[in-house]
Amino acid sequence: MLSLAAFILLTLTLTWYYHQRSSSQRLPLPPGPTLLSAPWPENDIARTFHSWNKRYGPVVSVKIGFRTIIILGTRQAAQDLLERRGTIYSSRPTSIFMDRYLNKGLNPAFMQYGPNWRLHRRFYSTLLNMKASQTYRRLQDIGSKELVHELLSTNDFSEVFYRYTSDVMLRLVYGKGRDWNDADHRRLQQINEMATFILQNASFRTTLLDLFPVLDKLPMQFMKWRQEAAQLHDKTREVYVECANSALQEQSWNWIQEIQERPESKDIPWEDVSYSLGELYVAGIYTTKMVLETFVTTCVDHMDVVRKAQNELDSVVGTERLPNFGDMDRLLFVGAFISELVRWKPISPIGVPHAVIQDDEYLGFRIPKDATIIANQWGINMDEAVFDAPETFRPERYMDNPDRHLPGFGFGRRACPGYHLAKASFFIVISRVLWAYHIERGGPTGDDAKGDCDSRRIVFTVRSLQHREVIERERKMCENDVKEILEEIRPPKC
Ligand code: HEM
Repeated sequence: MLSLAAFILLTLTLTWYYHQRSSSQRLPLPPGPTLLSAPWPENDIARTFHSWNKRYGPVVSVKIGFRTIIILGTRQAAQDLLERRGTIYSSRPTSIFMDRYLNKGLNPAFMQYGPNWRLHRRFYSTLLNMKASQTYRRLQDIGSKELVHELLSTNDFSEVFYRYTSDVMLRLVYGKGRDWNDADHRRLQQINEMATFILQNASFRTTLLDLFPVLDKLPMQFMKWRQEAAQLHDKTREVYVECANSALQEQSWNWIQEIQERPESKDIPWEDVSYSLGELYVAGIYTTKMVLETFVTTCVDHMDVVRKAQNELDSVVGTERLPNFGDMDRLLFVGAFISELVRWKPISPIGVPHAVIQDDEYLGFRIPKDATIIANQWGINMDEAVFDAPETFRPERYMDNPDRHLPGFGFGRRACPGYHLAKASFFIVISRVLWAYHIERGGPTGDDAKGDCDSRRIVFTVRSLQHREVIERERKMCENDVKEILEEIRPPKC
């Protein structure tokens, strides 16, 4: 009798499961363009996706090669799927180029969702959670004093921002000081330059490879850059391990030492730990630098907004000292300026794609297993239902809600772990540069004329003699105390 009941129960369960599964498979994919119906890509892919979302709705699908791509055009859809259903929407699309050649599965930012990614993510969270990030503020304080001081003698802001972001990361990851001739520093810079070169040259072809994997069967001489990427991977691995080993010998506290002391780090090869932290170093440099560059180019086109921010700085901070982290809560307009900056021009307009690991259903549509999920950050920021006149740069829209989470750092379990560190850098650098300088378009001068187009035309003029004296005085006061600060950051042993 019992076995009959069990049999009936099993049959009913299987029928229900089969019905559920086949009915969800019968659902249509979300609407979207086809080769014939499309308003096809403009130069700007985020704008193209935005126009599709406006035409077809908040969830759009498009099939290219063997891939189904789902484009989410509202914050609501991104939160519903990438956050609320994070258990199935937190993987990354496979990429032949990355997985087989450039990273060989070692970069946690591109790992599939699973225990290995989780372990690396735990390392990242330990190092970058809100509390830990607050302890790094003294390094950002010193770095930004050096930064405003350098702008007294050069207009090449890209280079100055690069020095700041790479200094902060080099100090944290490897415990190194600001020595530009340091061998590790030079090697890390070299592999970054090579990686940028390969990624820029290969970007179209790598996309093609992912859409049509059969191309990977072609002999190496047809797509030589695959071989170059694999060679770069070997070199990168070697450099990351050497730098990590030398960080272990450093007297100052650093992230390599911190992770090496954790018992979980013994579960994976030292090479993998070194690679993971090496990639964290890279992730922290270019992203923050790009936002700071956007800040400068935005300033020259919005002088009225800059004036408002400077008025606030003058009344809250005065001219006798630089702004500091303690002023954050009182510099509401500067905070709103930063929120609007990252909304108006996100540095990663279509975010970083996620992948879904099982079939799903949303708003009556089928989201197939393995689909690539793109939350179109630029489109979300330009949603007219949420933002009045979204294409206008207007910090005032954030004045009523200063605590708002900055957009552009992704969603759910894969959201950027560097958020708190980056946010603190934005505040300390932007408030100090605005406090110290008039930023205007001008002509090329001397060495700066070699810079890129934007840096050639932008000139930093210190706002007064008194501002200059403060910059010089504060810079002098912070010389040589980096090692001491790193020791103070070192968490106490349990
Ligand atoms: C301007 C500053 C930054 C921006 C706008 C930014 C943006 C992003 C975005 C959009 C993602 C993908 C999120 C997703 O998949 O949903 C991401 C991931 C990531 N970011 Fe950032 N980021 C910034 C700074 C940093 C910093 C300072 C660090 C490290 C110190 C960092 C480390 C990472 C890592 C490791 C990932 C991969 C996370 C994972 O896949 O689990 N980022 N970031």
